[in-house]
Amino acid sequence: MVKVGVVGLGMMGLTHLDAYQGVSGARVVAVADKDDARLAGQVNARGNIPGQSRGGYDLTDAARYSDGMDLIRDSNVDMVDLCLVTPLHARFAVAALEAGKHILIEKPLARTSDQARQILDAQAKSSGLAMCAQCMRFWPGWPWLKQAVDSRRYGPVRSATFLRIGETPDGPFYHDSPSSGGAALDLHIHDTDFIHHLFGMPTQVTSVGRTKADGGVDHITTLYRYDTVPHVVAEGGWVPQKGYGFKMQYTVMFERAIALFDLAHKPALRLIEDGKEPVAIDLDPGMGYEYEIAYFIDCIAAGREPERSSIRDAAQSLCILEAELESVASGRPQFVADIT
Ligand SMILES: NC(=O)c1ccc[n+]([C@@H]2O[C@H](COP(=O)([O-])OP(=O)(O)OC[C@H]3O[C@@H](n4cnc5c(N)ncnc54)[C@H](O)[C@@H]3O)[C@@H](O)[C@H]2O)c1
Repeated sequence: MVKVGVVGLGMMGLTHLDAYQGVSGARVVAVADKDDARLAGQVNARGNIPGQSRGGYDLTDAARYSDGMDLIRDSNVDMVDLCLVTPLHARFAVAALEAGKHILIEKPLARTSDQARQILDAQAKSSGLAMCAQCMRFWPGWPWLKQAVDSRRYGPVRSATFLRIGETPDGPFYHDSPSSGGAALDLHIHDTDFIHHLFGMPTQVTSVGRTKADGGVDHITTLYRYDTVPHVVAEGGWVPQKGYGFKMQYTVMFERAIALFDLAHKPALRLIEDGKEPVAIDLDPGMGYEYEIAYFIDCIAAGREPERSSIRDAAQSLCILEAELESVASGRPQFVADIT
């Protein structure tokens, strides 16, 4: 049994607590939040997706800390699940790794690629395993796409387009671009990372976006340059109007088929093969969170590196995203540097 401590009981901490209820082999033994009401389990939080963060978890037997650093020092905790706001990821991740804990870090891995490098360095010296919670790598319908691309069963990819637009989440963090990184870092990185997962590091990116007064980019569209795939594009953004909801889609054109994912469509994933009727692809139930957590728990139990969503991959995705932001600022294509 892996004994877990969850640090930060905001939108994502509560979402993870939900997920642990469906994961065998793990038990939440400690929680930390500096907000007393959240620590007492009295607050629920609204996520982008209906059904996310349902509540109903029982924290009666869990140790409670008002500072995540105290939870990291708890010798009863094997794995720290870090659900703090992004600028705090590096400091807490490094402390947890130095304490020899396994660590799951919410995406984005860190606020900057320099901070991501600090986490990589700490992990290299630690006995703890580390994984970044890039949940799209586990979201029903997205591993299917990865498998379809890798197997080439519909031929090579001719075009891949991704769209992710939602209402700006509630809370001061999301309205403060220097903290959250705006929609580009906080939301669009899901697609940046998945494109990286599918096709590797692009050589160049060309991005356009809307930059707010505080420097945050809240709407971005990027063309990713690959030698092997002619057309790879992703658009992501936040809108201020309540009632817009949340759109999460991909359209991937293979040589002999088109795959269409739309979270709002039932069924969410459809495949149209040359000369055949469109078919719905059966998907596992739920969201990506329970699958990513179950995967990491399995890795810990087996002593295996979580290669499916490594912190090195997440650091590289941060490098791609930073190149996208530089392209928005400069108005020119930008070469993508690897994590140094
Ligand atoms: N994977 C996804 O789909 C997804 C979705 C949204 C957000 N996120 C990411 O999850 C992270 C957290 O976002 P959120 O919306 O849950 O934030 P949040 O502000 O709702 O929650 C953060 C919590 O941390 C607590 N906290 C602050 N300092 C602390 C400390 N020293 N010790 C213990 N607790 C402390 C706060 O009181 C708060 O409850 C961010 O990095 C965000 O980008 C991921």
